[in-house]
Amino acid sequence: MKKVSIIHGPNLNMLGTREKEYYGDFTLDELNDHIIEQKENCELSFYQNNSEGEIVTYIQSCKENKIDAIVINAGAYTHTSIAIRDALLSAEIPFIEVHISNVYSREPFRRESYLSDIAIGVISGFGKESYTMAVKYFNSYFNTK
Ligand code: DQA
Repeated sequence: MKKVSIIHGPNLNMLGTREKEYYGDFTLDELNDHIIEQKENCELSFYQNNSEGEIVTYIQSCKENKIDAIVINAGAYTHTSIAIRDALLSAEIPFIEVHISNVYSREPFRRESYLSDIAIGVISGFGKESYTMAVKYFNSYFNTK
């Protein structure tokens, strides 16, 4: 079975209390449970960290652990982190960039991403379903390989 890692970046541990108008009222655990319920045919693992360097180290470990695909919501690091970009390039693992909110309808700086051009694609604005759509994509991606 293919292994898909879901990576949540900074402040996503605060889901449920954080800016509900953008992120809804579900917690990170509820989000992860929802992704598990929708999963099709892959083994999922979940990781959250608020620190850029820890996320880099985790992405490096994904390569060692032969993770087949990554779904990453890098939070604010999406807009700032060359280090996370470099880690994803180095890992050579196909990934999808996801966002809960529609980053294009918010402040202009959220339209910039260090990850989008090296991602398979970007899913933004669909709440919890941004993640489930990404996992669904990987299921069909693996089935056609
Ligand atoms: C976010 C959007 C980012 O701009 C923001 O910094 C986040 C969450 C989202 O899921 O909508 O922390 O990635």
